[in-house]
Amino acid sequence: MRHLDIAPDLFPNLLSDIAAQAARLNMPCYLVGGFVRDLLLKTSVNDFDVVVVGDAIRLGNALVGEYGGKLTAHHKFHTAVWQPSNALESFDLITARSETYHHPGALPTVKPSSIEDDLRRRDFTVNAMAVRLDGEYFGALLDPLGGEHDLAQGVIRVLHSRSFVDDPTRIFRAARYEQRYGFHLAPETRALVNQESLGTLSTLSGERLRHEFDLIFEEEKAARMLSRLREFGVLDMFHLPEFNEACLPLLEDKPAPEFGIPENRILFGYLFWLMNLQTDSIASIARRLDFDAELKMAALAAAHLKMDLSALKISKPSAWTFYLEKFPLTSVYALWLATKESALGSFLVQWRHIKPAVTGNDLKARGIPAGPRYKEILTQLRAAWLDGEVKNLEEEKELLIALL
Ligand code: CTP
Repeated sequence: MRHLDIAPDLFPNLLSDIAAQAARLNMPCYLVGGFVRDLLLKTSVNDFDVVVVGDAIRLGNALVGEYGGKLTAHHKFHTAVWQPSNALESFDLITARSETYHHPGALPTVKPSSIEDDLRRRDFTVNAMAVRLDGEYFGALLDPLGGEHDLAQGVIRVLHSRSFVDDPTRIFRAARYEQRYGFHLAPETRALVNQESLGTLSTLSGERLRHEFDLIFEEEKAARMLSRLREFGVLDMFHLPEFNEACLPLLEDKPAPEFGIPENRILFGYLFWLMNLQTDSIASIARRLDFDAELKMAALAAAHLKMDLSALKISKPSAWTFYLEKFPLTSVYALWLATKESALGSFLVQWRHIKPAVTGNDLKARGIPAGPRYKEILTQLRAAWLDGEVKNLEEEKELLIALL
């Protein structure tokens, strides 16, 4: 049996606690999936899926008894999440299980089983390896399905011919792993992305589909993943456009602090992707992918703004500002990144913060009766500041007197 060297810095102390507790309960304990794959690839490892042969919920309760923290148990799937106290990370504890899919695309029915069965239920060979943690077995690699070989060859291969039909989100996962690591699908696996599996994909809920696109936008090679999905026929199926690869660097930079825009790679991914579409197309995509209200509004606004941009070009700063203020800042920022139209940048950094010194209270103090006049006067003062017609408090006061 091959033993892997696991550098201590990859292995949080808490994992040793989990392994020790599993050994005390006589439950063989493994790290599976992404951890093993990334360990063998020598890329950063950030995911700890712990599988025990036995009962993960019982292990979780024992951990809480011994070390404290909180356990969230999912009895239907025999899994639990242990959140140790004072630790940033939480640990997924999974009971080794077999899965049965009662109909394509449904969530599976699960039954506790052996580690070998647990590996067989997984998506790709490269994700179907385990490394044992408990006691004297520490570091032993379990690879009954040829994952290490495929990893060395750069191949993404499903474990059986019904894999994509059972769980069509694996079509997305295939594109992600292939492009993330510069791998390729085994020809037989590629052939399984076919009418039948795509047909099952089309039955998935909007939420599940959107989650897969969200995961893609978190990836560095998002554009290539989307273009692979286009080749598979997935984008056409949902009337989704190509992603312009030139937009990708725009996702890499965090918004500079002066823009006052929170970082949100996923949101901006969608905005760049959809901003060239007609608003009715965006509305139907938003429905199908179950966008939340914020994402839907931002995507529609970015497309709307893009269409109006040429008409606004010769406008004064006040006209730009009063118009842009109706839209979410994230949409204005995305359009600024995409077009580099300087007025959009000026609006975000400067214009939107410009307000007159005079307030409603000052107008009241001058005896102006409450009503729509207030807004008119304050708007005129603000426009004068924005357009450079008023440059100091003295000039603002003169304009106010002229307006009254
Ligand atoms: N898995 C699967 N089928 C799915 C989702 C997950 O078989 N549809 C299995 C795979 O073995 C995968 C593991 O569950 O390795 C954990 O899933 P996830 O956390 O989504 O993937 P990671 O392997 O951790 O990879 P990533 O780096 O993409 O998070």
